[in-house]
Amino acid sequence: MIDQFGRDITYLRISLTDRCNFKCLYCMPGDPLDRLSRDEILSFDEIVKIVEGATTVGINKFRLTGGEPLVRKGVPELVGMINQVRGVQSTVMTTNAALLREHAQALYDGGLERLNISIDSLREDRFREITKGGQLGPVLEGIDAALAAGFQGTKLNAVIMRGFNEDEIEDLVAFARNKNLELRFLERMPFNSAHDNWDEAFMPVSEIYDRVSRIEGLIPEEPDRTGGPAMMYRFEDIGCRIGFIGALSEPYCERCNRLRVSSIGTIRSCLVDGGELDLRQAIRNGAQPEQIGKMLQVAANLKPLTHSKKQTVQMSHIGG
Ligand SMILES: C[S@@+](CC[C@H](N)C(=O)[O-])C[C@H]1O[C@@H](n2cnc3c(N)ncnc32)[C@H](O)[C@@H]1O
Repeated sequence: MIDQFGRDITYLRISLTDRCNFKCLYCMPGDPLDRLSRDEILSFDEIVKIVEGATTVGINKFRLTGGEPLVRKGVPELVGMINQVRGVQSTVMTTNAALLREHAQALYDGGLERLNISIDSLREDRFREITKGGQLGPVLEGIDAALAAGFQGTKLNAVIMRGFNEDEIEDLVAFARNKNLELRFLERMPFNSAHDNWDEAFMPVSEIYDRVSRIEGLIPEEPDRTGGPAMMYRFEDIGCRIGFIGALSEPYCERCNRLRVSSIGTIRSCLVDGGELDLRQAIRNGAQPEQIGKMLQVAANLKPLTHSKKQTVQMSHIGG
């Protein structure tokens, strides 16, 4: 599906829930979330209808996210349901891995292709502080469980914030190297969250890149032009890669190939701005796959050429 600026939209991120077992400072609001009721959240059958609609307009890659997708029961079964839809090429997931030890094998067996795992610190006390009470141990076990289950190409995502975890850049690289996993450093985006002095904590990827470039054994690599990070490094001997996602300082809007659906079925054309459409109402009124596809096309055409840098919504609502 081509949008009005000629971008080929092939990728849909679906938030399974706005709930999360972590309350990351930069992601969750300071006040407790208004809990969405069960009825408000899309059912698995409704999610599958969205997937069917999306495939009618050429979307073939689906990412399950949240909140934390694994706090919802039955996700491995959902993966199987999605993969049965004709036209689906891959289903992947972003998770904090806290519950992955229990679910990694079932997800793999259910046909989940790949995992992105968020981990911002390797120090227990700091991890607890950033996630507001989360424990590092189960996350590390979750990463190992993913490897043991057979997942290939697992990526680690780390949001780097000045004054919080900038001193762990090298440790995170060493950790990724040890596990032979790709690591991507993310710039912190200004979402409505508990930690509102985001500009002080903001660290542009150029600075992170500088630090990483001094690590021995890394060589620069050709940028990925398929929607991945623009800058990459690779360990010469084992091939594992380090990427940098500068959503604010180096936006990659011209390569953006995605739409998002929130846990209550709102299609969002861009993480930062653009427009929204209510897909849930359409589905509950009996919309057929072609109609859902048309709504996705409308949303694609709402995608801005480049995003503004302001943001007031919550990441946990939209789905990361
Ligand atoms: C919202 S989470 C949802 C999936 C899952 N719970 C997880 O932790 O990976 C997805 C990703 O968004 C990132 N994220 C959340 N808020 C962010 C922000 N303000 N700036 C940059 N990345 C953010 C998280 O670090 C995580 O990697």
